[in-house]
Amino acid sequence: MIHHTIEALLKNNRSWVAQKLAFKPEYFNELDTEAKPSYLYIGCSDNCMSLTRLTQTKPGEIFVHRNIANQVSLTDFNFLSVLDYAVDHLKVQHIIVCGHYGCRGIKAALEGHTSGLVDNWVNPIRELYWQKKDEIDCLSTKAARINRLAELNVMVQIKNLYQTSIIRKCLQKNNAPQIHGWMINPKTGLIEDIEIPLFRF
Ligand code: CO
Repeated sequence: MIHHTIEALLKNNRSWVAQKLAFKPEYFNELDTEAKPSYLYIGCSDNCMSLTRLTQTKPGEIFVHRNIANQVSLTDFNFLSVLDYAVDHLKVQHIIVCGHYGCRGIKAALEGHTSGLVDNWVNPIRELYWQKKDEIDCLSTKAARINRLAELNVMVQIKNLYQTSIIRKCLQKNNAPQIHGWMINPKTGLIEDIEIPLFRF
């Protein structure tokens, strides 16, 4: 992998801006920074691929929350604030909970090696593994076990989402955003829409 220097990042930024302006001088003036995004994306911090790039969306179309292994935690004030703002103020129409194959957060949960604070954070995923141990352990490779746990993790986070006061309130008023479960495959660049069990209570 090529590791750019910090100076190169700023230089690349300037050349990207120059390319955009050469192609369309009004590019940045035309970006509507006041427009409300229609999507809330809950993804993993270590996901190496930008959703904006993968979906060819413009800056501002997607409101983003990220943490290790895309967790929906009902005690995470940061996450709940993002969700409340996205639903109540931005009135997003879609919420995407997005995991990815090869996730290091899921790997940490599955391997159970002490790696510092992250071990506490991924504990709910370790619990999920114990619940689904039979299904996961019969997969033949470690990569397959990590990836299946990553998919199950997305399903559980969607279940958690439906349990938040914010989404429950929307469901009562019949104006809840649509909730989607996605997996990014970094080996192909493709996004897979995974089937989510019905979690409405
Ligand atoms: Co990850």
